[in-house]
Amino acid sequence: MKSENMYCNDDELAKKLNLTYIRDRGEIPKGELYLWKEDCGLFLCKEELSLKADFTDSLPRLKQSNLEHEILLKAVRIKGHEGTLKVLDATAGFAEDSLILAAAGFDVTCCEKNEIISALLKDAHARALKDSNLSKYAERLDVFAGDSKEMMKPEKGFDVIYLDPMFPERKKSGLIKKKFQLLQLLESPCDDEEDLFAAAKGAKPKKIVVKRPAKGPYLAGCKPSHSVQGKVIRYDCYINA
Ligand SMILES: C[S@@+](CC[C@H](N)C(=O)[O-])C[C@H]1O[C@@H](n2cnc3c(N)ncnc32)[C@H](O)[C@@H]1O
Repeated sequence: MKSENMYCNDDELAKKLNLTYIRDRGEIPKGELYLWKEDCGLFLCKEELSLKADFTDSLPRLKQSNLEHEILLKAVRIKGHEGTLKVLDATAGFAEDSLILAAAGFDVTCCEKNEIISALLKDAHARALKDSNLSKYAERLDVFAGDSKEMMKPEKGFDVIYLDPMFPERKKSGLIKKKFQLLQLLESPCDDEEDLFAAAKGAKPKKIVVKRPAKGPYLAGCKPSHSVQGKVIRYDCYINA
């Protein structure tokens, strides 16, 4: 599978994202976000901060022995399902969760609506397809930029729709790693959770799985069929919602 690539070159990408594309360190704009490209990937930068999406960071979690401990898989699996499970990650971010799902053998479509995050994600995906350690996982991912509500249609045939919308408390965390401070500038708490959940139900998947903080409220106030509880997070599962 491949990622949808809309941009012919980096200038076109920067123009689309309304960012400056810097080739020379002398041109760095003060206090502004800009794009910087090296052989090792595309970076979003601001002053001393820089951020790229990189699937390599997830490699330890993708080992078969470690996957067994991922409660995400417990939440997403469908007992008795025959064939490959088709999952839509409708709030992809940097696709860390999508990678876990791909490593477990599912076919994963990931969709990210923020144009800058999706550009960084596509760059990471393109690099992963050429990386001998990551290609077997990256090949199970399709990456799309845009609002996933457009993709949530019954005819797409998703077995599971996975939602991890930004939760307000995460934004306030003082412990957040420095590089993720840039991500905070781009992500905003989800303001359309009812529409997102209604769209997921409209697609008629066998299951909807929603990631929440361990003690957070249900998405759109809707009680799940059951939950898989972890120490910090919880997965709410809605069967044939
Ligand atoms: C908390 S992050 C997801 C992190 C992700 N689960 C991971 O493992 O990296 C939430 C992301 O969902 C995206 N998002 C929110 N609503 C969306 C929508 N309707 N369609 C596509 N992406 C959406 C946000 O832009 C944000 O990047």
